[in-house]
Amino acid sequence: MCGIVGYLGNKDATKVLIDGLSKLEYRGYDSAGIAIMNEGELSVRKRKGRLANLEEQLESNPVSGSIGIGHTRWATHGEPSDRNSHPHTNTKGTIAVVHNGIIENYMVLREWLSSEGYKFQSETDTEVIPQLVDYYYEGNLLEAVIKAVEKMHGSYALGVVSKDEPDKMIAVRKDSPLIVGIGEKESFIASDIPAVLNYTRDVYLLEDNEFVLIDKDGIKLFDENMDVIDKEVFHVTWNADAAEKGGYDTFMLKEIYEQPKAIKDTLTSRVIKGELIKLDSIKITKEQLENIDKIYIVACGTAYNAGVVGKYVIESLAKIPVEVDIASEFRYRDPFITDKTLLIVISQSGETADTMAAVRLAKSKNARVLAITNVVGSSVAREAEDVLYTWAGPEIAVASTKAYTTMLIALYMIALYFAEQKGSIREKEIEKIKSGLLDLSEKTAEVLSDTDAIEEFAKEVAKHKDVFFLGRGLDFAIAMEASLKLKEISYIHSEAYAGGELKHGTIALIEEGTAVIALTTQSALFEKMVSNIKEVTTRGANVLAISKEGYEEIQKSVDTTIYIPKVRSILAPVLSVIPLQLLAYYVAVEKGCDVDKPRNLAKSVTVE
Ligand code: G6P
Repeated sequence: MCGIVGYLGNKDATKVLIDGLSKLEYRGYDSAGIAIMNEGELSVRKRKGRLANLEEQLESNPVSGSIGIGHTRWATHGEPSDRNSHPHTNTKGTIAVVHNGIIENYMVLREWLSSEGYKFQSETDTEVIPQLVDYYYEGNLLEAVIKAVEKMHGSYALGVVSKDEPDKMIAVRKDSPLIVGIGEKESFIASDIPAVLNYTRDVYLLEDNEFVLIDKDGIKLFDENMDVIDKEVFHVTWNADAAEKGGYDTFMLKEIYEQPKAIKDTLTSRVIKGELIKLDSIKITKEQLENIDKIYIVACGTAYNAGVVGKYVIESLAKIPVEVDIASEFRYRDPFITDKTLLIVISQSGETADTMAAVRLAKSKNARVLAITNVVGSSVAREAEDVLYTWAGPEIAVASTKAYTTMLIALYMIALYFAEQKGSIREKEIEKIKSGLLDLSEKTAEVLSDTDAIEEFAKEVAKHKDVFFLGRGLDFAIAMEASLKLKEISYIHSEAYAGGELKHGTIALIEEGTAVIALTTQSALFEKMVSNIKEVTTRGANVLAISKEGYEEIQKSVDTTIYIPKVRSILAPVLSVIPLQLLAYYVAVEKGCDVDKPRNLAKSVTVE
C-alpha cells in the first residue's frame, strides 16, 4: 500500500508534493512525510496521522526547495508513529527514501547492516533501503540503487534523493505501482496518475525493474544493466475534475450518485440491441472458449463479492462451471489449474497484490487470464491476455460503490458474450437480458431519486450493534456486499447469511429487536425467503425488506419495505445493492464516522 510522489522542477516542491499526496491519501493515511533538497541540504518533515498533521508541522517549521519526495503511509512493519513515517534516511542523514511495498528479507539485511555499523531509528522494513544505498554508494546514485535493490526481496516502488547528488532523483518499481509524469522542465513520480494530473497528462507507466533517473535535463529510463530503455508515452484522457467531490459532502455519496452514468458508460458501444456483444480487448476465440472447462473468479473485498454474482450469472448463461475464490487463499491452496482453465480476476485498482499473485500463478500453469479492472494500464490489465475495463471513472472513497456495480455489468457482458459464442442459451433470451441491461442506468437513477425511507431506516440501524443480512441465490451475493459496506464504514458488526442456512446455527443470535435486512428480489425464491423472514420475525427481529415492484405482499411479513423497480431477477443485484450502499452511508453519517476514509482501511492494498 502507501502512496509515493516525487518532484523535480522550478516550482516549490513542498507544495507540489503536498498536493500530490492529497490525491494519494486513499492509499493509506497512517502518516505522511516529505524530504526536500535545498541548496545541498536535505530536510525531512514527517508526522503520524493524516496529511493535515504534516501540513500543520510545515506551517510552524517550513521547508522549500525544488526537488523532493513524499509519502502517505498504510502501516505494515511498525506501528503508525512519527518515527516509523517515511521518508527514511541512512544513518548519516544524506540519503532519503520513500517506499511502497514490503521488503521481505529486511530482518537479515538489518542485522548485516547493523554489524557494518549502521544505526536504525525505526521498526520499518523500509529503513534498510537508504542504508543499503549508502553501503553501495561510490559516487553514482543510480548505480547504488541498482545494487541495493539486487539485495532486496519483496515488493517496492521507490523514490530516492541524496545530498551527494543534490540535482537528481532515482525511482524504480517491482510489484508495486509507479508512474513517471513528464512536464515542461519538470518531472514527477507517483504511485497513481491523479497525483500528477494538475501538472501533466503525459506519463510513463513503469514496468518492474525499470529504473528512472530524473535531473534538470529530464527523464531517462534504464534497465538493471544501466542500458537506456525507450518507452512509449501514455497520454491520460480523463479529467482531473473527475477526481474532485463536485458538490457532494463525500466522495462516497458522489460515487453512489455517479452509478447511472458509470453503468451507461460501461455498456456503451458494447451492448447494442440486435447486435452481438463487442468486448474491445477480449481476444479469446470461439475455439479457445470451447476448450475452457472451468472458470475461477478470483478477487478481494468488494471485487470478490462481485465475483459471487459472476458465478451465478456465468453458470446460468454460459453453462461453464465457475468457482469463486478469495485471492489470498487461492494462491496458497494449490488450486487445480490447467490450460483449460480461465481465470477471471476482478480488481478496481488493478494493483491489489494478492490478485496480482493469482494472475501470475495461473499464467505459470498456462491458464488464460481475463481481467476486469477500472484502471487503464494497471498491472492487472497489463499482465492479463484479455481485459475488460469498467468505465466507472476514478473511485476515491475507500468503500467501493460505482466500481462494484460496473463490475457486475462487466460480468453480465462476459456471461452473455460467452453465451453468444457457445450458443448456450436461446438468442431470444440473450436479447431480453441485453434489453434489461440497457434499462439499468435509468432504473438506477430511479432508485436514487427517492432516499427518504432509507435515510429514516438508517437512523434506527445506527442504534444497533449487530445487523443480519439475509438473501437466497443472487440476493445472498448482494447480502454479502451490503454487509461488507455497512461494517467497513459504520463499524457495526454485521453478517450476511443465505436465507436457508440461518436455521443451522446463527438463528440462535436472533432475539427481540435484532435488526435483519432481507432481500426478496428473486422471483423463484420469493416464497422460500418469506418463510425465512417468518423464522426471524417470530423470534422478535425487526425486518427491512428490499423487494421489487410487483411483490407488495411482502409488506405483510416485515416492518418496512424498500422497492426497486421491476427488473428480471438475474439483473436485480445492480438495483438492490443501491439502497444498501445508501443505508451503510447514512448509518455511518449518523454515527459521525469518516465515510471516505474508514479506520484501518486503504483503497488499494498492494501488500500481501
Ligand atoms: C481494499 C479496499 C476494498 C477493495 C479491495 C480490493 O481492501 O478497501 O474496498 O474491494 O481492496 O481492491 P481492488 O482494487 O482489487 O478491487
